[in-house]
Amino acid sequence: MKGIVLAGGLGTRLQPLTNITNKHLLPVYDQPMIYYPIQKLAQAGIQDIIIVTGGNSSGDFLRLLKNGKAFGLRRLNYTYQEGEGGIAEALGLAEEFAEGKRVVVILGDNIFEDDLTPYIKSYLQQEQGAKILLKQVPYPERFGVAEITDNKIMSIVEKPKQPKSDYAVTGIYMYDQQVFSIIKTLKPSARNELEITDVNNHYLEKNMLTYDVLPGWWADAGSSFPAYFRAISLVRELRFKNNNASMKE
Ligand code: G1P
Repeated sequence: MKGIVLAGGLGTRLQPLTNITNKHLLPVYDQPMIYYPIQKLAQAGIQDIIIVTGGNSSGDFLRLLKNGKAFGLRRLNYTYQEGEGGIAEALGLAEEFAEGKRVVVILGDNIFEDDLTPYIKSYLQQEQGAKILLKQVPYPERFGVAEITDNKIMSIVEKPKQPKSDYAVTGIYMYDQQVFSIIKTLKPSARNELEITDVNNHYLEKNMLTYDVLPGWWADAGSSFPAYFRAISLVRELRFKNNNASMKE
């Protein structure tokens, strides 16, 4: 299993912080945002990772992350996304890197409390297809939303005005090699991006999409200032809990 971290885009929702740097390099409490998804993959035993970046300061990823040794990785690869083509387009750039193997994709601004190991293990027991991870949230209309009946996903809608459930699709996706041919069939959405939700719906139509619901907290740190602030607070609490670190200034 190989890992793909998506860290491109202009980060317009966090302007002006992102006017001169990449969103994923911004601090989240005591570490740069991009550290968290890389650590999550490393914790789950994924040692071969590619970073897909672009936009402002893309060269700084290399300066910051170097060869990935500090994260215990075998190697760290990089590629560059031109423009703002969306998550699915960014993922398409990792096709050669994947070498026909299964991949776990994580958005560079998503921070998870849970260890992903059991979810990746259960995906690998699946014969083929994809797996997504859901989280119940108070404002599902900000995300891709999965409609669930009798424990089955019926549909996924990207940022619905009237969500049919409170199950948000988090930024962790597990795919087999079919994903790259699916991406080639996609058409740009109204926001002129290739949508990851369209990829997931393709798998759903073929009855090849499974899911789990995460028990721990999830923060999509780059989606708004309140979400960014919440991510910082959650990491701060985690540090206090895990290391008994001082909360004193
Ligand atoms: C993207 C996906 C959305 C998902 C979210 C998770 O949204 O399109 O389905 O729920 O990431 O962070 P975006 O951040 O591109 O608006």
